[in-house]
Amino acid sequence: MKVTPSLTLAITAKAKRMKEQGVDVVSLAAGEPDTLPPEPAKEAAIQAVKDNFAQYTAESGINELKEAIVKKFKRDNNLDYKTDNVIVSNGAKQVLFNAVFALGPGDFIVPVPFWLTYPEQVKMAQSKTVFCQTDNNQFKADLIAEKISRDTKAIILNSPNNPSGAVVSKAELKRIADLALNHNIMVLSDEVYEYFTYDVEHVSIASLGPEIREKTVTINSLSKSSGVPGWRIGYAAGPVDLVKDMSAIQSHVTSNPCSIAQKAAVKALDFGKNPAVLKEYRERRDLMVDGLNSIGLNCQKPAGAFYCWVKINGDSMDFCSKLLEQSKVAIIPGEPFGMKDYVRLSYAVPKEKIKEAIKKIKEFV
Ligand SMILES: Cc1ncc(COP(=O)(O)O)c(C=O)c1O
Repeated sequence: MKVTPSLTLAITAKAKRMKEQGVDVVSLAAGEPDTLPPEPAKEAAIQAVKDNFAQYTAESGINELKEAIVKKFKRDNNLDYKTDNVIVSNGAKQVLFNAVFALGPGDFIVPVPFWLTYPEQVKMAQSKTVFCQTDNNQFKADLIAEKISRDTKAIILNSPNNPSGAVVSKAELKRIADLALNHNIMVLSDEVYEYFTYDVEHVSIASLGPEIREKTVTINSLSKSSGVPGWRIGYAAGPVDLVKDMSAIQSHVTSNPCSIAQKAAVKALDFGKNPAVLKEYRERRDLMVDGLNSIGLNCQKPAGAFYCWVKINGDSMDFCSKLLEQSKVAIIPGEPFGMKDYVRLSYAVPKEKIKEAIKKIKEFV
């Protein structure tokens, strides 16, 4: 089996290398916010080190953290879970892997465009990705329905979406929930960008009723919401038996998530959506969207996440490599996200960088 390495990580690393060599690169490649971790969380990490909190923990996470996660789900998503429903992993990436592995082998429906890791994980789990069209990047239950078969194990939902920024409305989520219930399939709901919604409300599909909650794994992470992607803390809540299977897989793959990061995460979860961050990110989004449209690149305003998803003429791989080589701007080609003629630009960078990048892209196109 051949697994394709993550192109986002590869381009981000290339841009970093060029910067280290003294090249003035503007990188709009990274999928991480530029916010700083909450102070109490940093202090909790230091304290955990001093307290020698250095042993293996329970594989699915320490109880104190699971309790904080239960509280967070209630506070932010109106979801009632118990600690038995919760698993903590090394990032949402690992939670998702555990879920895909535990549910497979079988078919996983993935709407296009998609976060590039989904099909690779499905492949690793000896399962099959069934791609499904969207309507102008919007998830549609009708289009998902066309792809359901006897072999379908789950639909992978990602709202707010990476790369398109689309946010699925409550009405559409209700239709997708009905579909999952009628066909007895699971929903893996990746909600890692939940704190980044601008003009619309984020709704967790599992909050639409107890039946769909039992058919959903609600996946989240501290990476984007708390600005700590390197700490590698992701988590999920789902049906108890499935969560047990996911924990068993994790116990053989990585044992537990880092003990120090778990202690820090308890404190980080005290902080919900930050209006100041949201205001800044909304301004950056508007700056980038207006800038791109002003230079003739057609970009719709994304409702969530922190990416602009832009249609270009020609092949995105070629476009991005030439843009990096010639104009020193790093962005991500759409191909690994399932759309060859799109590119993804992150606006999780200061406004001056956005302005500089637009100027350089203008000269390039
Ligand atoms: C849609 C989506 N899900 C999950 C992740 C992974 O998050 P984590 O850092 O928690 O593994 C990312 C990171 O880029 C993402 O874009």
